Amino acid sequence: MEQTTVTDLHVADGEHEKEIEDQEEAQADIEIWKYVFGFTEMAIVKCAIDLGLANIIHTNGGSMSLIELASTLKCSPSSLYRVMRFLNHRRIFRQSRTSQGTLIYSQTPLSRRLLSHEENNMAAFILLESTPVMLSPWLGLSNRVLEKSGSAFDAANGEDVWSYSSKNVAHSKLINDAMACDARVVVPQIIKGCANLFDGVCSFVDVGGGDGTTSSMLVRSIPSIQGINFDFPHVVSNGVLCEGVQHVGGNMFDSVPKADVAFIMWVLHDWGDDECIQILKKCKEAISKDKGKVIIVEAVIEAEDTKDEFENARLLLDMVMLAHTTNGKERTLKEWSCLLNKAGFGHFNVHPIQAVQSVIEAFP
Ligand SMILES: C[S@@+](CC[C@H](N)C(=O)[O-])C[C@H]1O[C@@H](n2cnc3c(N)ncnc32)[C@H](O)[C@@H]1O
Repeated sequence: MEQTTVTDLHVADGEHEKEIEDQEEAQADIEIWKYVFGFTEMAIVKCAIDLGLANIIHTNGGSMSLIELASTLKCSPSSLYRVMRFLNHRRIFRQSRTSQGTLIYSQTPLSRRLLSHEENNMAAFILLESTPVMLSPWLGLSNRVLEKSGSAFDAANGEDVWSYSSKNVAHSKLINDAMACDARVVVPQIIKGCANLFDGVCSFVDVGGGDGTTSSMLVRSIPSIQGINFDFPHVVSNGVLCEGVQHVGGNMFDSVPKADVAFIMWVLHDWGDDECIQILKKCKEAISKDKGKVIIVEAVIEAEDTKDEFENARLLLDMVMLAHTTNGKERTLKEWSCLLNKAGFGHFNVHPIQAVQSVIEAFP
């Protein structure tokens, strides 16, 4: 019988390590292209939105041949075919062939997220992020990291994102529409994942509530509640009208309108810790003494590697904060705990929901 020696084991280990290294090298040869041409994915999806592909196919009953699509768009089929082939490869539209060989495109769950009338459409968010205003800060990100410049957004656009949008009506609308997209996706998840969140609450104020989509959705799902949508005057002046929702313009660093609870979604991540403490203190002053709490809807970054399917989006969002804000960031549980403690909140609960964000209930 042959004996396995210690030397044999070392050789086997060495060969195994070499095999893994070779596999990683081969994988790197493939993966590096993701970064070489990474921007292409966003650009092609923006192109699909600009062309209105999802809406055209929807209007045609959910599927369409390449020739019909080209004729509706009044273009030649050749470039369009290449765009559709790419999108099909990403499962944005499905390509099939009839028995006569005609190319047909139909909707998929991903292409339906580009449909303007769908509740979960994200088209406006993609259009916002793909504007030159939002893309140009990324090109100066290394200067921001090396602290050669302040905010990358300011360096590219001359002022911070909120001052810029106060003077640029079209950009402000793009932001509000993009935020409304996310609100339509996340608010149902908040209601589903935190059934008792508003029990006993008669009124809330949505701080930095954008166009009021969130407030309207909350009031419609809990008709006994009254909502205040609070944001800059130029934002609330174009707010959505809904019975039970009052729009109030102001600056959250000065004061926040009074209500039982303050709700604040995707606002604190735009700011550094010192500003967050100021905002949270204003929220604390606004809420009722007996049933008051602040409901924060924000990402909670996992401290360790996680299998959570939204974690990649959270880490991307943290990079967006680095590019688009001065001191904003996504926070870990430990960072939230430290922040809430400094702002004078005695305890808090975190409710994970099926979304990029979690719901944090903070009690004074
Ligand atoms: C990222 S958006 C979030 C919008 C909304 N909460 C949502 O999640 O759909 C941040 C909001 O904060 C508002 N905001 C920024 N600074 C503010 C301030 N000083 N006072 C009031 N609102 C402010 C912006 O106008 C914007 O609507």
